[in-house]
Amino acid sequence: MENLAIYPGSFDPITNGHVDIVLRGLRVFDRVLIAVLENPKKAPLFTTKERVAMSRKIFEGRKEVEVVSFSGLLVEFAKARGTNTVIRGLRAISDFEYEFQMALMNRQLAPEMETLFMMPSQEFSFLSSNLVKEVFMLGGSVRDLVPGLVERRLREKSRKHSRFQI
Ligand code: PNS
Repeated sequence: MENLAIYPGSFDPITNGHVDIVLRGLRVFDRVLIAVLENPKKAPLFTTKERVAMSRKIFEGRKEVEVVSFSGLLVEFAKARGTNTVIRGLRAISDFEYEFQMALMNRQLAPEMETLFMMPSQEFSFLSSNLVKEVFMLGGSVRDLVPGLVERRLREKSRKHSRFQI
C-alpha cells in the first residue's frame, strides 16, 4: 500500500524552505499531499486559489505531489484522505512550542494521528513566508528564498495593490 503524508500549512506564499520539506518528505513517503489552509487567522496576501495554483505549478509533472486546499480540522481532513501522518518543518527551537502544541492537540483530537518533524536544509532554517513578504515589500531580493514563479507573483501583487500588506 502507498503511504501518504499530509503537509499542511498556510503557504502564503510557498518558499524554498517548504519545497525542501516536500522533497525530504518524498524520501520517506510515496506521496506528499500539500494541504493549503483556506482560512488562516491572518488575512493572507494570496487567495487560497492563488496559493494552491502556485504550489501545483512548482510541482507540476511530479505525480507523487498533490496540492489541495482544506478548511476545518486537520485531523478530519487527514481521516477523509485516509492517512494519519502529518509532516511539518521544524526550523529552530522557536518553532518548537507552537508545533508541539499543535501536534499534541491533533493527537488529543485523533489519537491515531502522528506528526513527523523534518529539518529543512540549513540554508532555509531562517526562512519564513512572513519574512519573505516583508523583505520583498521593503525592496529586498527574495531570489534565493522562493521559486521564480512566487517571485513573479509577488511582483504582480505589489503592482496591483499599492498598499501591499504583510
Ligand atoms: O503554515 P502554518 O500557518 O503554520 O500552518 C498551520 C496549520 C495549517 C498547520 C494549522 O493552523 C492547522 O492545522 N489548521 C487547521 C485547523 C485545526 O485543525 N486546528 C486544530 C489543530 S492545532
